[in-house]
Amino acid sequence: SDGLKPVTTLTAVEMALRDTVQQYSMEKIKPLVKKMDAESYLDKGILKDLFEMGLMGIEIPEKYQGPGLNFMSSVVVIEELAKIDPAISVIVDVQNTLVNNCINRYGTEEQRSKYLPRLAKDMVGSFCLSEQGSGSDAFAMKTRAEKNGDYYILNGTKAWITNAKEAGVFIVMANENPSVGYKGITAFIVDRDTPGLSIGKKEDKLGIRASSTCEVILQDVKVPVSNVLGQVGKGYKIAIEGLNEGRIGIAAQMLGLAQGCFDSTLPYLIQRHQFGKSIAEFQGVQFTYADLAVEIEAARLLTYNAARLQENKLPFVHQASMAKLYSSRVAEKTASACISMLGGVGYTKEYDAEKFFRDSKVGQIYEGTTNIQLQVIGKHILNKYKS
Ligand code: CAA
Ligand code: FAD
Repeated sequence: SDGLKPVTTLTAVEMALRDTVQQYSMEKIKPLVKKMDAESYLDKGILKDLFEMGLMGIEIPEKYQGPGLNFMSSVVVIEELAKIDPAISVIVDVQNTLVNNCINRYGTEEQRSKYLPRLAKDMVGSFCLSEQGSGSDAFAMKTRAEKNGDYYILNGTKAWITNAKEAGVFIVMANENPSVGYKGITAFIVDRDTPGLSIGKKEDKLGIRASSTCEVILQDVKVPVSNVLGQVGKGYKIAIEGLNEGRIGIAAQMLGLAQGCFDSTLPYLIQRHQFGKSIAEFQGVQFTYADLAVEIEAARLLTYNAARLQENKLPFVHQASMAKLYSSRVAEKTASACISMLGGVGYTKEYDAEKFFRDSKVGQIYEGTTNIQLQVIGKHILNKYKS
């Protein structure tokens, strides 16, 4: 009656979407996962398919030529893709949770009609907050915006920007009045072809190697006043409110990673015999995978619960942090334990666990490190018990 569904239940639409993505991932992504990882590139055909399937604009309203689905649909898609390739999953995650949702929520009608149909159809987006000197301390950014008539002039270098290589548009946070600290931060929508914007170094990463992570350099980039996203001086709020939601997306990515790794390991454990028995039947091995199954289920409940809270416009910020923190720990633990259960073959690139293990580590770093999530949760507890 309060509109909430039991957290483990997906609607018929969400389940159908999950099944479609599952089938697509198995058929089209899986055969390319190892190559994209080894060569650190994103297959263009996959990107095209993601757009054609509506997965790059899941929540974009029909009015702007998107499928207009709910937040849980994004979560389910991110989870499902991560079961096969966490790198493809984060590309979809950033587009939906950080770029599309920020423009849809804070954009003017003109901005929405200009950007959302493209983001749904064929344009990748990036979210540019971090810099070399300001990651956790994101609001201490050095990128500056200076007003000059009908334009702002942006200068600075953003670091670690996901999707930057492919992006046609960038949401850039810059401070236009440092004298008031973070209250000077404004969000700008910057087109890729704006003179002065260039893509710098592409990072050579441990994991999620099909997802590009680059510097974005801004040198006297002239952005029209009409491209300010939301209010001047409210960019910090846009950034962190996007991230509150984005963290549920990363929780889903890490949950999918853990489940995908688990699913790809179990058949080997059953088929592998030592001492005349399937190793899956040794209690020492069985207790390990039984424990992992419990933790994966707990991660799923935390993630889906945070998503349903968000979707129902209920407070969800500390639950999002809990989900992100827990799922990313479970992902690393699962991938590590799977390698141990697989034995020697688990340590090779022939089996999936090795890549899942490398991919898992970033879950505890991006969209706020584990310590930052603990800070959010800790502050919430303090406020609750102080009042
Ligand atoms: N939700 C809403 N508002 C929040 C908030 C939250 N979770 N955390 C802080 N704020 C608001 C505060 O209310 C305050 O605003 P008001 O003055 O209007 O009330 C303001 O932000 C500053 O608060 P603090 O002094 O507590 O903030 P701080 O400067 O100590 O740190 C922070 C704030 C930068 C948001 C930090 O807590 C944080 O989250 N750091 C991590 C940054 C991050 O997640 N980066 C991710 C980049 S994108 C990415 O990583 C994508 C990817 O990989 C795929
Ligand atoms: P630091 O902030 O230097 O942290 C280093 C260590 O110090 C961490 O263990 C941290 O927990 C700890 N620490 C810092 N402050 C505190 C504190 N107050 N209390 C306790 N411990 C603390 N950013 C974007 O804007 N857009 C993107 O698309 C994007 N994509 C990314 C993709 C990848 C693959 C990676 C690796 C990063 C990406 N980032 C992106 C940046 C990411 O959000 C930052 O790396 C992250 O927020 C951490 O910042 P940092 O790397 O500067 O680490």
